[in-house]
Amino acid sequence: MGAEASYDEIGRAYSATRRTDPTIAAAIWSALGEAETVLNVGAGAGAYEPPDREVVAVEPSEVMIAQRPARAAPVVRAPAEALPLADDSVDAAMAVLTDHHWSDRARALAELRRVTRRRIVLFNADPAQAERFWMTTEYLPGFLGLIPRRLRRPGAWRAEFERALGTEVRIEPVPIPHDCRDGFYGAYWRRPSAYLQARVRTGISVFARLERSEVERGLERLAHDLQKGIWYERHAELRELDALDLGYALVVAEI
Ligand SMILES: C[S@@+](CC[C@H](N)C(=O)[O-])C[C@H]1O[C@@H](n2cnc3c(N)ncnc32)[C@H](O)[C@@H]1O
Repeated sequence: MGAEASYDEIGRAYSATRRTDPTIAAAIWSALGEAETVLNVGAGAGAYEPPDREVVAVEPSEVMIAQRPARAAPVVRAPAEALPLADDSVDAAMAVLTDHHWSDRARALAELRRVTRRRIVLFNADPAQAERFWMTTEYLPGFLGLIPRRLRRPGAWRAEFERALGTEVRIEPVPIPHDCRDGFYGAYWRRPSAYLQARVRTGISVFARLERSEVERGLERLAHDLQKGIWYERHAELRELDALDLGYALVVAEI
């Protein structure tokens, strides 16, 4: 995606709103299959590290590393583009909500492939499906401008992974629960007033990457639409749903 937002600047309060969501964790851990050794790339505070496998974490931001609990896996400070691991050294590599921040995706994916023996598991949102989310289409259309052109076409996301990893990938959609505990951009799709809280927005890099004036305008309109009941009328169907497909998915590659 577009403008950079370093987690040394924006990550200070990350752990306040970004916690492990059990539904997403179960999907990731199941996708890791039989792997006994797992590398977690762009590991942040360690939210989705499986408790029953040998994990090593790689994370470039000191601010994020400082938020890892004492019981978390050992961590090495490095970016995905230069993994400090030997070839074929782990059964599986995982990367959760991080690959859109990588400066050189092709190089980073080549690194994941180099160090992994069996399986790579990523979790993120397909950029071509960004218009599934009302927050983007109705209040923050500038989000679409952060998506690189090459990834706006349906299928381009998958094709990019397949090119870089040199193998077919499985895309497994993960509907986001209405009470998602991990406060990422799409997490509050049924709790719209959450986006009006500064502490919620602090944990979501999208808000740091958009122009401040666009964010202010969008939030003013959202506050207005909530107060007048307009949002609830327009999205009455969402109140009936327990989970929603917003384009988030697992990307699973067998190496
Ligand atoms: C939204 S957080 C996700 C953290 C963690 N994976 C989780 O699910 O809680 C994004 C993470 O990607 C990291 N990151 C940014 N650029 C990176 C790069 N080039 N290589 C690896 N990680 C990077 C950030 O420092 C941050 O910790």
